[in-house]
Amino acid sequence: MTTTIEALVPEKVAQYDAHFSRHRAESGRGDYHFMPFEPDDPEGPRGLDPRMLELPLDDVGWQRWWVARPAGEDRVIGHVDLKGQHLKAALHRCELGIGIERAWRGQGLGRRLMAAAIDFARDTPSIEWVDLRVFGHNLNARALYQALGFEEIGLVRDLVRIEGESIDDVMMTLNVS
Ligand SMILES: CC(C)(COP(=O)(O)OP(=O)(O)OC[C@H]1O[C@@H](n2cnc3c(N)ncnc32)[C@H](O)[C@@H]1OP(=O)(O)O)[C@@H](O)C(=O)NCCC(=O)NCCS
Repeated sequence: MTTTIEALVPEKVAQYDAHFSRHRAESGRGDYHFMPFEPDDPEGPRGLDPRMLELPLDDVGWQRWWVARPAGEDRVIGHVDLKGQHLKAALHRCELGIGIERAWRGQGLGRRLMAAAIDFARDTPSIEWVDLRVFGHNLNARALYQALGFEEIGLVRDLVRIEGESIDDVMMTLNVS
């Protein structure tokens, strides 16, 4: 089935929230953990604040998101996001996150979502670096990021311990200036 990618607008955040609930419930269930939370942790990630989508790129806390949908449907099945730093002095950097529901992985959607975010960063003069963090055991994601030019610049051993597993964290960056 074909999929479409579009920028997320505040009016559609509820569809994103439903996708994110399904996605986070898959972390560590069936394969590896990809989130720093147990899937049912009530202290887990907070929802997306729609106001952040409309902040200008020279304001701390700005965010831009893109979502993927099966063609002709309203439901969201994957996302990529860029988040500006929380320091005014670091607004030339942003951090990327991505997630695709399991049934839709391995079909080229990750590459397409990454391209949407990277193209945006390249077209935005104020953004010079795109950073990301990925668990060391997430070899599929690391291969994708490397193929797109991201460099591994650091490793934090034993960053989190989830369900008895000690997990390393890899820092990666891409220069888009
Ligand atoms: C990681 C993720 C975003 C990749 O997206 P995807 O749609 O599955 O990947 P694609 O089909 O676009 O594949 C792109 C590349 O990823 C890598 N990859 C993806 N699936 C792979 C697999 N099963 N085995 C090996 N490499 C794989 C390959 O390098 C592939 O390159 P290719 O197109 O030349 O074969 C997606 O699998 C996902 O959301 N996983 C769970 C959440 C997650 O890990 N998020 C990242 C947290 S930092």
